[in-house]
Amino acid sequence: MNDLLNKIEKALDEYTSIPHSHYMDKVFEAMRYSLLDAGKRVRPMLTLLFAEAAGGSIENAMPFALAVEMIHTYSLIHDDLPLMDDDDMRRGKPSNHIVYGEDIALLAGDGLLTLAFEACLCEKAISAVGYEKAAKAALVLSKYAGVRGMVGGQCIDVMSAGKITRENELFEMVSGKTVALLKAASIMGVIAAGGNEKQVKAAEDYAQGLGMAFQIRDDILDITGDPTTLGKNVGIDEKNDRFNYVSLYGLAGAQILVEQFTDEAIKALDAFENSTLELKNYALKLINREK
Ligand code: IPE
Ligand code: IPE
Ligand code: MG
Ligand code: MG
Ligand code: MG
Repeated sequence: MNDLLNKIEKALDEYTSIPHSHYMDKVFEAMRYSLLDAGKRVRPMLTLLFAEAAGGSIENAMPFALAVEMIHTYSLIHDDLPLMDDDDMRRGKPSNHIVYGEDIALLAGDGLLTLAFEACLCEKAISAVGYEKAAKAALVLSKYAGVRGMVGGQCIDVMSAGKITRENELFEMVSGKTVALLKAASIMGVIAAGGNEKQVKAAEDYAQGLGMAFQIRDDILDITGDPTTLGKNVGIDEKNDRFNYVSLYGLAGAQILVEQFTDEAIKALDAFENSTLELKNYALKLINREK
């Protein structure tokens, strides 16, 4: 695991070391400020672990792992902006817009979003997996990152603020804002490895369960967490009048859901012949995460 994390870190640094003119210094600095040496790297880890589970290599899956982490980081930069969650701390340091201003934070997010697709379709990616798999992976990422995925879920989150939301609406919101990128991450790992349809479906089902559990735990930590350990503020959901699974079921009820959704995720792993022990243990570890 630590070895994978180091590889991800190094590759993210390489992919964002791009020559540029001095007017762009600030935007590159802002992109790298939020992206590097930060975050748990859940999404790229899933890409790499699913690539291994489907019989592929870490190296060939790396461009796709980086791509999804770039999109995730952009979503965090925009999520923290005053016009969204208005949050001034992220990944253990001041949020991007606090350091670079809202204009550059917006552009840094846009820069990461587009660079992600460059990573999927760059020479390295094509020579690793070929045009067809790279295009398939990029299509998956575009679908799950956009209005049918993360952006769509963020819309529901913003538009439903202040409203009591039904369980099926909460499910739709979380399936968009959080599950979608975890699905993209997991499925791209299988695609990069040349896995079959059954394995793609299993990756999707695993990510559905894991993503629900992950967001519900995030909502719990927004109440019970320690900001220093979490690396972000708490009490943000209440401040922004957000209704979530904790509002509906209370802290204890929500934690039971975290466990149930994690069980569902683990069951989906039966479709793989290779060992999926790391994916199982990873899901179990996240149940009681404090950051
Ligand atoms: C935070 O994601 C946003 C959610 C979808 C809950 P993470 O908890 O994975 O944040 P980082 O990447 O570790 O900073
Ligand atoms: C964020 O959900 C999901 C994203 C797509 C960024 P939250 O707004 O709860 O995430 P945090 O708590 O700010 O990390
Ligand atoms: Mg938010
Ligand atoms: Mg937020
Ligand atoms: Mg949150």
